[in-house]
Amino acid sequence: MMDRQLSFHGDESGVIATNDDASESKRSCVKLGYYHDEYLQSFVKISEKKAPEINRGYYARVKGIEICIEKFLKKTGDKCQIINLGCGFDTLYWRLRDASHMVQNFIELDFPTVTAKKCYQIKRNKVLLEKINIEDGEIKFSPTDLHAPNYHIVGVDLRSVDEVANKLKQSDVDFQLPTIFLSECVLVYIETANCNNLLKWIASNFTSAAFVNYEQVNMNDRFGEVMLGNLRARGCNLAGVESCLSLETQILRFVQNGFTGARSWDMCQIYDSLPTSERHRIEKIEMLDEGELLVQLFQHYCITVAWNGELFQDIEITVEKRLSTLMID
Ligand SMILES: C[S@@+](CC[C@H](N)C(=O)[O-])C[C@H]1O[C@@H](n2cnc3c(N)ncnc32)[C@H](O)[C@@H]1O
Repeated sequence: MMDRQLSFHGDESGVIATNDDASESKRSCVKLGYYHDEYLQSFVKISEKKAPEINRGYYARVKGIEICIEKFLKKTGDKCQIINLGCGFDTLYWRLRDASHMVQNFIELDFPTVTAKKCYQIKRNKVLLEKINIEDGEIKFSPTDLHAPNYHIVGVDLRSVDEVANKLKQSDVDFQLPTIFLSECVLVYIETANCNNLLKWIASNFTSAAFVNYEQVNMNDRFGEVMLGNLRARGCNLAGVESCLSLETQILRFVQNGFTGARSWDMCQIYDSLPTSERHRIEKIEMLDEGELLVQLFQHYCITVAWNGELFQDIEITVEKRLSTLMID
């Protein structure tokens, strides 16, 4: 049974602005050479240099997620679907294309204010357009939505499951196809009841699914309280924070809403699991004044992987093994 939906007709500008923050921070990272993303500059024109701790945090976030996605793609090949919830200006579709991945379907969702900006930039950028225009297929545009043969971006409020279902249908969603969901710092902004409804709907409709979720954790200690206060001061409420109290609450959110299983790692663990040569490379880019702040930041973010159905059920073991043996291929 679905939980009661909370009313959500508030001011979303604070939450929407978190995309500018994330995109500018990623751009700062790319500019300094932490990782490569030639597409981000099409969406983010300005970026001021961020603190070294922020840059390292974003580097670990982007690499950690990439590793999970690659892991799932190894299992499915390109016969899968990726659904990016609260996509912001994420460039994963184009980066995957450069890594020779052409997944069957890639669907991005965010508030219409955000998707309108993304659609506008895609429309006027030859490189971005060329990559989504596979097989010289037709591309349909509206101010907030874009539908290409295997790439779709749609404006929607994720708190309305009916709206999400409708927009996915317009994007040729295939419920039978193995599906990888991605949400990077998104669920935390959604009221718990609404988030539960969304996850329940996903778990009951996508029988072969993996879910990669990056967001805050350990939010009930002093550092977490300060983070919360700072965000509230910027008009941004973490409405779903009760799932971000510990790695256990992160896992429970998925299994209690119908997923078969879930695992969660804080970013200290994820960072330690990155290849040593890569860590040494990026650690030389900028010196940290003192390492304590970075450790605290890493302790307050995590990646949770949840799965549903048989195809992905042994993923937990391989991800676990990889992390515990610190081996990444
Ligand atoms: C911190 S940003 C992250 C953007 C992107 N995932 C990234 O990591 O670069 C959070 C994104 O989630 C979106 N978002 C939050 N709540 C949403 C909702 N109820 N419906 C649609 N999008 C939402 C925001 O508009 C924003 O683009």
